[in-house]
Amino acid sequence: MFVATAPTVSSKAELYSDLNKQLASLLDGERDFIANAANFSALLFNLMPDLNWAGFYLVRGNDLILGPFQGKPACVRILVLPTPRGVCGNAAFHRKTYLVPNVHEFPGHIACDAASNSEIVVPIINNGAVIGVLDIDSPSLNRFDAEDQAGIEALVETFTAATDLPIAR
Ligand code: SME
Repeated sequence: MFVATAPTVSSKAELYSDLNKQLASLLDGERDFIANAANFSALLFNLMPDLNWAGFYLVRGNDLILGPFQGKPACVRILVLPTPRGVCGNAAFHRKTYLVPNVHEFPGHIACDAASNSEIVVPIINNGAVIGVLDIDSPSLNRFDAEDQAGIEALVETFTAATDLPIAR
């Protein structure tokens, strides 16, 4: 049985190093996308401080559709093409991480949970194509900084290396 252990750390670098080891251990022996994405979301939601939502949106045609997540029920479908909507749609369209210190200042932000005040969205890439995004929300303003971005992008690399990724469809 895998037991998620709350890291006792004094820096973000240590936190992400600890989370990365726990993620690798959690995913070891299973490559199924749904199972690994669900457990990745649960690990983030339970061990990262000050979050209210963590999970995936997956590319389906011109949209993103809700995937495995932890948190309150969320918006189901987000437009990517031809005009991307929200932080998630933009991260998928522009294929880059979006770090949003104050979601209320992001044009077109989609408020799934009124409690969210800041957000980070990292694209998930398979063979050069975006197949989805990882979205993490916080009730605090300025919750995520460049260190969080580097740490979360490293977690996404561990996840993508350990998982059979779907192709965009
Ligand atoms: N806020 C996101 C939508 C997804 S929810 O936060 C879970 C956005 O603007 O794309």
